[in-house]
Amino acid sequence: MDGNGRWANSRGLERIQGHREGAKSVKEIVTACREIGVKALTLYAFSEQNWSRPSDEVSALMDLLYEYIHEEHDEIMDNGIRFSAMGELHRLPRYVREPLMALMEESSDNAGMTLTLALSYGGREDILQAARRLAAEVREGRLDPEEINEVAFSGRLSTAQLPPLDLVIRTSGELRLSNFLLWEAAYAEFYFTELMWPEFRRPQLEQALGAFNSRDRRFGKVKTKAV
Ligand code: FPP
Repeated sequence: MDGNGRWANSRGLERIQGHREGAKSVKEIVTACREIGVKALTLYAFSEQNWSRPSDEVSALMDLLYEYIHEEHDEIMDNGIRFSAMGELHRLPRYVREPLMALMEESSDNAGMTLTLALSYGGREDILQAARRLAAEVREGRLDPEEINEVAFSGRLSTAQLPPLDLVIRTSGELRLSNFLLWEAAYAEFYFTELMWPEFRRPQLEQALGAFNSRDRRFGKVKTKAV
């Protein structure tokens, strides 16, 4: 969800106002995905690296998360959304972490779309913690190293409960993954747009999904001819 700061700066506004406008995009995109039938939506809301931003910006982002969890509680529960979060959640301030964990628990049996917020998340960090878990299981004699395959590895990532990643959308003209879902993106499609995140709303999402639907996904194989 890139470009909040630039969106604000180009209008002579404070960066935090860009994040506020970005939070409106979050709400619209979550509703649109649910209505369209997307099974899982994962939003990169705060990276491990974002902690090193100025403290007033970090605080403002934490406040926005707190507001989001409270304001969207009924929308999430009434629509059967399973709310989840991944990343180093223990680093979040308590006033955010506690309602976040409570909503995860309360919505855990919901069978609709899974909405995951990546918070204090880093793809490399997640791969490392999966490797540490596997190593500990081997050390404790619960896992044979020969059994470490892609399925076993995927099962130790924070995304273990999510379906395979189909599409990564990145706004603001950046052409990088920036430590997001590194393992999971192996066969994902990418959609890059010059639009800033606050400008990315339902019509732009529909355009991205249209582009995705026209892609020819072969997963490294050759296409079998229809007869
Ligand atoms: C990246 O844009 C955006 C973030 C680091 C924060 C994303 C947060 C929100 C959209 C709002 C709060 C989230 C939720 C789930 C309610 P940037 O700040 O790096 O923008 P820039 O690249 O233009 O500086």
